[in-house]
Amino acid sequence: MTFRDKVVFVAGGTTGINFGIAESFAEAGARVAVLSRSQERVDAAVAELKRHGGDVIGFAADVRDYDALSSAMASTAAQLGAIDVLISGAAGNFVAPASELSANGFKAVIDIDLLGCFNVMRAAYDHLRKPGAAIINISAPQSWLPTPFQIHVGAAKAGIDQVTRTAAIEWGPQGIRVNAIAPGPIAGTEGMRRLAPTPAAEKAWTDSVPLRRWGSKAEIARAAQWLCSDDAAYVTGVVLPVDGGWSLGGSSAMTTAVTAR
Ligand code: NAP
Ligand code: COA
Repeated sequence: MTFRDKVVFVAGGTTGINFGIAESFAEAGARVAVLSRSQERVDAAVAELKRHGGDVIGFAADVRDYDALSSAMASTAAQLGAIDVLISGAAGNFVAPASELSANGFKAVIDIDLLGCFNVMRAAYDHLRKPGAAIINISAPQSWLPTPFQIHVGAAKAGIDQVTRTAAIEWGPQGIRVNAIAPGPIAGTEGMRRLAPTPAAEKAWTDSVPLRRWGSKAEIARAAQWLCSDDAAYVTGVVLPVDGGWSLGGSSAMTTAVTAR
């Protein structure tokens, strides 16, 4: 797919799944902006993305800081042009039982994931190409599959799904499409290092996926490119699971339960 000279902004785009998405757009000829908190990560990501030959800029900012986001969006539009593709993927995750999670721990994840997602979309709005822009918010299957020790993440991602659908309705008439991707367990990511810190936990995760494997960053990037391409020009308001069927819920446990005699 080609995105030659399209302008792509990736919030949380310096590592992991979001960096994989940013890199796939850079490879496809796009002009890319990435944003995350750590200046060191921003510098490393910008250097890596520049190897693909296009214009790349980076911003060290927190998605909880609306003014900083607003200025990053304005600066992107001034340096690279109107934003064609906006990816909102900054997030925080840790495993915590609800009975032990502090109110501030719950709030931290809501603030980064959900409020951060709204902030990114809202700050970008004036700088999006209209018509033609495509937004992808990064959700997770925990948004509809209640997942123990993930009460904060499930609530935040469920909010993101509804923000996605609501914005799709409000911004559709301006020619802006708004979709989300809900990745399953993706190999080589910080998220899965936190959720599956031991070989036994890794195996349990694999067994809970109907396709019996974890996904790759490239598989998420390909789904993102499709959703932002003209091939998906009539697709908006969708939360697309790219998860090997994980969100169908309890595949191996269900099989054991139903077949137990
Ligand atoms: P990751 O590498 O830790 O990516 C998170 C990114 O967000 C980092 O670049 C981080 O950089 C940035 N970030 C975090 N807090 C931020 C803040 N307050 N403001 C600005 N940037 C911030 O994690 P990942 O596992 O690849 O996850 C990426 C996305 O996929 C997340 O939305 C996650 O919920 C979703 N997801 C992941 C999986 C999985 O298997 N890993 C599954 C389902 C969904 P800084 O630290 O520099 O800020
Ligand atoms: N278990 C329980 N509570 C935790 C926790 C854990 N593992 N980690 C943090 N918290 C709580 C803190 O104790 C604090 O609450 P308190 O004030 O009541 O003590 C609250 O969360 C905020 O912590 P803080 O460290 O100030 O937050 P932060 O904004 O600096 O960082 C996090 C946000 C906690 C989400 C951090 O893990 C992070 O930056 N993650 C980004 C990378 C990531 O998670 N990648 C995977 C994405 S899927």
